[in-house]
Amino acid sequence: MYTLNINLPDKSYPIIIEKDLFNSIDTFLSQYIKGNKVVVLTDENLSNIYGKKLQNKLNNLNSEVYYIVLKAGEETKSLSVLEKVYSELLSFGITKSDYLIAFGGGVIGDLTGFAAATYLRGIPFIQVPTSLLAQVDSSIGGKTAVNLPQGKNLIGSFYHPEAVFIDPQMLSTLHPRYLADGMAEVIKYGCIKDTELFEILENIDITDLMQHMEKIVYKCCNIKKSIVEEDEKDDGSRMLLNFGHTFGHAIEKIFCYEKYTHGEGVAIGMHHITKKSEEMGLTEINTSERIKGLLGKYNLPVSFPHIDEKSLLDAVAPDKKSRGRMLNLILLKKIGSGFIHTIDKNDTINYI
Ligand code: GLY
Repeated sequence: MYTLNINLPDKSYPIIIEKDLFNSIDTFLSQYIKGNKVVVLTDENLSNIYGKKLQNKLNNLNSEVYYIVLKAGEETKSLSVLEKVYSELLSFGITKSDYLIAFGGGVIGDLTGFAAATYLRGIPFIQVPTSLLAQVDSSIGGKTAVNLPQGKNLIGSFYHPEAVFIDPQMLSTLHPRYLADGMAEVIKYGCIKDTELFEILENIDITDLMQHMEKIVYKCCNIKKSIVEEDEKDDGSRMLLNFGHTFGHAIEKIFCYEKYTHGEGVAIGMHHITKKSEEMGLTEINTSERIKGLLGKYNLPVSFPHIDEKSLLDAVAPDKKSRGRMLNLILLKKIGSGFIHTIDKNDTINYI
């Protein structure tokens, strides 16, 4: 078992990472939920796999427990679904002393967090992330959001959970494509901050990946903790977490979030930007080849799809790392060392 604490000026909370933690989820939750009402938000896929067991466990809490089971998929992270969630919370009589639990991947975590942040101007919530992407990234650091038709995560807030409970064993029921999706974020951490993690990933026998997962998740959460503690509101070093995301988000969007998963877009984005920055002499030679090798090993794509320049530039325009005319690109000096490179938006074309 690994325990980390996120320590921020206005909030501290634990992250507990333990294989098979789900078997005792009621014990972990009971430290927070003492007779309050609880609403679990989850999706249909997870409900089919874990719903019965979760209900049995939560019946042990001395609380009224309600469930909101949403459709799986990115479309759920919308204002219209959010409005339905608010209505359900009101119909259950949820007040400020009650809890929401996000039991799911990034979509459920972000939506639940934003509902918690805004319902009655804020009620407490707990993250139980079940996808690799959510375990290593989206459940930690307080970013909550819903999407607009114009782009992902354009409406949101910083609002932290009371605790994050992570069971890496739950990843064994993930579809291989969604395990790969999360591995893109794991590889990202190695690229921007941790040469040792990158090398571990290079050397692991992929058939043993699950045996290493608890440690991998811990290493990623630990990097995220230090970055979030240094720059909670995303004005500086937190932008490093967006390595590969400028073009990654654009690719996802151009293909209507259907053809590429987030991790696949990020994989293409990480490789592409590093190849470009290498050509410009900003990155150590051979870095993009190593990234390509590692992405391939974990079944992630690197080839940039055919997109006309204008569509790509339009899709990059609402990037949240832009400030006025300037765009902050995340580049690598070498593996394990990311940096922010600020360019004029008009020069984006040079990185395509
Ligand atoms: N997922 C990027 C961040 O938390 O800042």
